[in-house]
Amino acid sequence: MTTNSGLRSTQWFGATGRSGMAHRSWMRSQGFTPEVFDGRPVIGVATTWSELAPCNVHLHRVAESVKRGVWQAGGFPLEFPAMALGETLLRPTAMLYRNLLAMEAEELMRANPLDGVVLLSGCDKTTPGLLMAAASVDLPAVMVTGGPMLNGKYQGADVGSGTAVWRFEEDLVAGRMTQEECVFAEGCMARSNGHCMTMGTASTMASMAEALGMQLPYSATWPAADSRRYETAQRAGQVIVDLVRQDLRPSAIMTRAAFENAIRVNAAIGGSTNAVIHLLAMAGRLGVPLSLDDFDVLARDVPTLLNLQPNGQYLMEDFCYAGGLPVVIRELAEAGLLNSGAITVTGRAIGANVADAPCWNREVIKTMADPFQPAGTGTAVLRGNLAPGGAVIKQSASSPHLLKHRGRALVFDSPADYYAVSNDPELDVDEDTVLVIRYCGPRGYPGMPEVSNVALPRKLLLRGVRDMVRICDGRMSGTAYGTVVLHVAPEAAAGGPLALVRTGDWITLDVPARTLTLEVSDQELAERRAGWQPPPPHASRGWTRLYDEHVLQADTGADLDFLVGASGHEVPRDSH
Ligand code: FES
Repeated sequence: MTTNSGLRSTQWFGATGRSGMAHRSWMRSQGFTPEVFDGRPVIGVATTWSELAPCNVHLHRVAESVKRGVWQAGGFPLEFPAMALGETLLRPTAMLYRNLLAMEAEELMRANPLDGVVLLSGCDKTTPGLLMAAASVDLPAVMVTGGPMLNGKYQGADVGSGTAVWRFEEDLVAGRMTQEECVFAEGCMARSNGHCMTMGTASTMASMAEALGMQLPYSATWPAADSRRYETAQRAGQVIVDLVRQDLRPSAIMTRAAFENAIRVNAAIGGSTNAVIHLLAMAGRLGVPLSLDDFDVLARDVPTLLNLQPNGQYLMEDFCYAGGLPVVIRELAEAGLLNSGAITVTGRAIGANVADAPCWNREVIKTMADPFQPAGTGTAVLRGNLAPGGAVIKQSASSPHLLKHRGRALVFDSPADYYAVSNDPELDVDEDTVLVIRYCGPRGYPGMPEVSNVALPRKLLLRGVRDMVRICDGRMSGTAYGTVVLHVAPEAAAGGPLALVRTGDWITLDVPARTLTLEVSDQELAERRAGWQPPPPHASRGWTRLYDEHVLQADTGADLDFLVGASGHEVPRDSH
């Protein structure tokens, strides 16, 4: 019954003697017939399903569709759980656990008799976590993201998950909305399975997976509730069996050319700043040379084509019906801004995949000739004595009048310290003040949470101020907006200059010049540094201690230092 097909799974299921018997016999306790051990490709279906990760809760149904496709194509599918990271529930932040998911999934893929994997993700960190794992194992892999929720609907209008939360909060503080209205609106915003349906981090990373060539065309945009999401999943099950037979691996797909495509697509969709960190971490696993500055240089020629929240008006469901991500990729290709020859999981080049992609709504997907926002309004990388390792700002989410700004710093060592006084009518702050919120980086919080876009002081909100410059070593939700300098590196907890800022210092932000300057002399900074003490570690044991000791800074992707790179899929020693 068992043949040696040359696949790695035959080292388990094709083995003779006691070992082979153990491998097969216990699998048959699930009711599989012996034919499944005949040397066909064994496909792992890694699912980040959990009721604690509501954006991923339908993935077990997606997995069923994937498995259908695998069976159809002559493979043997085996579903297994990988750590589910729910953005809205996990404390102190899901980002603390992205690398743990990546490490867990990597080890599971390598240690088990798998020839290829289908990666099921959805909520923000699950997509990069699984791709980082697949990169380090380098077995053939296809991603299927779970798709966005249907548009939120409240009082006759569309509301975007995440993005509307910020607005509702401000309306509540300013007295424009009652608590009862707010509770009702919560239920209207998230009304189906799926991840956030704005162009937040989940939609961005799903688009990145498609732009990198790791998921099938249109996969990023089918709503979670759309039957074509399941059709695509079934197709992915067929495709992975082919990829195993062709031995087409992530390292052949996620090349420098593919990352360049992803960066440009991120600019064209007005994607989340979180893509910067995740793509850097993924490139680090593959040994692909990619730097923070690539995100600025490559995106400068790319206009924003999508009119989607949080930058614009529409939502992912509208993007889907307008034609989906292939339209955006085709527009870039036709403008000479795509590495069209980059190979994808279809086995074809990305340019060929999208060549005929039709657009059905130019209000949602604009053209290169008439873009939603002009080139040069995407994510900018800032440097200066306040961020020697770099910082980023999402220009399209910022207020144009604040992109060149000089103001006095008002400094807080945590968001909690700020919120303790933010409603105080006597707070010494005006619209020119620069709010500095620090110790929110990878080590500082820990986990680099999405806390950087703190709500404005109440006294300014009541005066109608809608934005002010904020600077932080943490992240910002992809669904959020505001003139917020993010990912300042090195972070305060690692002794970056951010730790040395004092209330009253002058800070100059000049986005067109790409600078962030603390107007304090080097000598004064050296004196302040002599009196600075690093904060104590957050934990004496467990994952948080390991993370704290090994996490890298944001400018290289905040991976753990010992997880950078790949180990492949070889496991020479048997278990019995
Ligand atoms: Fe899961 Fe937004 S909270 S995608």
